Amino acid sequence: MRSDKLLANMGYGSRKEVKKLLKKGGLTVNGEKVTDGKTHVNPQEDEIEIFGETIDYKPFIYLMMNKPQGVISATEDRSEETVVDLLEIEDALYEPFPVGRLDKDTTGLLLLTNDGKLAHQLTSPKKKVEKTYRVHIDAPLQDGNKDALEQGVILDDGYETKPARLEYVNGERGTLVKLTITEGKFHQVKRMFQARGRNVIALKRESMGPLLLDPHLDPGTYRELTDEEIALLKNDS
Ligand code: URA
Repeated sequence: MRSDKLLANMGYGSRKEVKKLLKKGGLTVNGEKVTDGKTHVNPQEDEIEIFGETIDYKPFIYLMMNKPQGVISATEDRSEETVVDLLEIEDALYEPFPVGRLDKDTTGLLLLTNDGKLAHQLTSPKKKVEKTYRVHIDAPLQDGNKDALEQGVILDDGYETKPARLEYVNGERGTLVKLTITEGKFHQVKRMFQARGRNVIALKRESMGPLLLDPHLDPGTYRELTDEEIALLKNDS
């Protein structure tokens, strides 16, 4: 990335201020002063100092977000707000992307990372990573629906879903359930319930593999994963 972009991204002021900083010789890359904003730097490999202070630039970032309703799981969009728009600039600088997609109206656990290898492992159908959703449906399930959803239902496009697990949260006659699936087809959970004549009113992802949504995260907020969580995810996938 261009050195002036890096400095601007890191909050070192407007374009004019960044230019001034560079002119003053404030930026050193691998021990050499860089005064031209067009010079390319690689923050993941180069040693970067700003006025003598080394910038700590780790290669990967792992963020757990409690996705709010109304934002899309993408890195950019022309008209809609994306989950990346919710990040602080110092985190966005790492160019993380969402691992798997949640619908615009779905809330809950969303992992954002720039670690492509881990993202691939978590989303590869071969790995069968379990995802658990808390699902609010419009009417209670009827006899046979639990077994059907667990064994596999035929979606509107003819696809038969793989085995899943269903748990009642507030009893068999309640409208709150938890569904654990190992796939990630488009609108899968909603379409699974539609296949049994139920509409999903609210959907929240609570876990992905060994990663559980932190209950202290309000919708729209996020935090870095702990080293333990990162290790768990890597060992599991
Ligand atoms: N299934 C859905 O229908 N929507 C989601 O956002 C995730 C899973």
